[in-house]
Amino acid sequence: MNKYKELNLIAKSFFNGIKEEITILSNATALINDYIDDISWVGFYLNKNNKLILGPFQGKVACMEIDFSKGVCGACARTQEVQLVPNVHEFEGHIACDSRTNSEIVLPIIIDGNFYGELDIDSMFFNRFNEEDKLGLEEFITSLIKALKSAR
Ligand code: SME
Repeated sequence: MNKYKELNLIAKSFFNGIKEEITILSNATALINDYIDDISWVGFYLNKNNKLILGPFQGKVACMEIDFSKGVCGACARTQEVQLVPNVHEFEGHIACDSRTNSEIVLPIIIDGNFYGELDIDSMFFNRFNEEDKLGLEEFITSLIKALKSAR
């Protein structure tokens, strides 16, 4: 079975009954890290008063606060659209938390019309992420949003 199929099958019921957002977000990063190959960092940046604050993640130490005007994460926050970056070195203003990162995908998480935050995944490989990753991760975020809403 395709990795995203497996991941999304699990994600649909994995968080049932969990009432803490931090618990859901933490295990969401672990699930992606377990199922998705060739990634070097996966984590959440959360919208706190129009600033991105580092949330649960797996990987090396990362930037703790990111302005909406900065980097790939900032572009995702401003546009609220998926940022698929095949080569981060060609992305104007990319924030190099880890100099080994070569490609990246950032997906917005929008709950009831409000920008909640984003899922950021980095890879040491160029061109690591494509349309299949985008679709698979969007489906994952749909399950995550359902879980976050029922935790409220
Ligand atoms: N790459 C991001 C910064 C966050 S780290 O990748 C964890 C950016 O340019 O927005």
